Amino acid sequence: MTDPLLLLAIETTCDETGAAVLEGPRPPGGGVPRVRSSVVASQVELHDRFGGVVPEIASREHVRQLLPIVDEALRQAGVGLDQIGAVAVATRPGLVGSLVVGLTAAKMLAMTLDVPLVAVDHLEAHLYACQLAAPERVVYPCVGLVVSGGHTSLFRCEGPIEAELLGGTIDDAAGEAFDKVASLLGLGYPGGPGVERAAKGGNPKAYAFPRAFLREDRLDFSFSGLKTAVLYALRGQDSRGRTGADPGTPSPEVVADLAASFQEAVVEVLVAKCRQALQQTDLRKLGIGGGVAANGRFRDQVAAMASDEGIELFIPPMALCTDNAAMLGVAFPKLAAGQGAELDIDVTAGLVRPTRR
Ligand code: KG4
Ligand code: ZN
Repeated sequence: MTDPLLLLAIETTCDETGAAVLEGPRPPGGGVPRVRSSVVASQVELHDRFGGVVPEIASREHVRQLLPIVDEALRQAGVGLDQIGAVAVATRPGLVGSLVVGLTAAKMLAMTLDVPLVAVDHLEAHLYACQLAAPERVVYPCVGLVVSGGHTSLFRCEGPIEAELLGGTIDDAAGEAFDKVASLLGLGYPGGPGVERAAKGGNPKAYAFPRAFLREDRLDFSFSGLKTAVLYALRGQDSRGRTGADPGTPSPEVVADLAASFQEAVVEVLVAKCRQALQQTDLRKLGIGGGVAANGRFRDQVAAMASDEGIELFIPPMALCTDNAAMLGVAFPKLAAGQGAELDIDVTAGLVRPTRR
């Protein structure tokens, strides 16, 4: 039997610096790789006071963090650089400055080690996390939903590297809406966990917030109107922005009701669009990736829908849902398909609104 291939993966698409070492079959062999180590340095605290990711700060921090993180991933895997047989890096989509930092480091490593370089799509990687987390099951073909701070996109995935975009958000991503609403309600950044906590004590029916495209066949999302509706409700205004009585500082009860009603609207739309995508494609499996998949209400509701429809559901554990480098294990099927990148490849940005491919 030949030695397994050791792959070093680098992820710097947004505000997490990630490196991982994976062990898997040498091409053209198939099979799911094993994660030997995965290290992530989060920049959340740096961006916290700005209420969102500041691209320039993100790229500078990647420059500072990346090589120590790569060293740590190698150390935790018990692997020397000379044992690495391929380098993978996420080259799209993302913040352009952040992507360039990761790609430059990956090119330098691949060139020095004289090993193949594999360019990975960050969204395909998010979905491949489902397969990494369940190596004994077969995830594909499936409907894939990536729902994070930067993306809300539905895919038809015939295989790990055959994702066809079915629809996506036309404005804010779902996680971005959580972050903005959390900021309005004073619930901290990133907003998802704060909104979820506040929502636990609230009434999800207290406010009838909009659910964009809910009854339409299209598999697109829109969350910016919902965010504005929360703002108006908070200010005591009607849907046209006309002010009612001065609401003053909202009570914890009002914050809880707003959080619960907002969360319910997002969850209902996400689950409904997954159901529609499954029905429209006739696929029987659903894979979900991205930070919003941490939301308990979403997990419960999507699991109920899956059981109702007889669908096999895949949601990775949290560490594989949020940005990480282990999910770049999707490089193994790429290598098996003969897809290594040339050293002159470039990044493709486009963080918030993925274009149809
Ligand atoms: O995948 P991720 O770590 O980074 C991106 O690629 O964006 O996702 C981060 C997003 C943030 O917008 C955050 O508010 C959201 O995931 N999030 C949640 C929860 N935990 C994190 N949204 C809703 N409920 C949660 N519990
Ligand atoms: Zn992501």
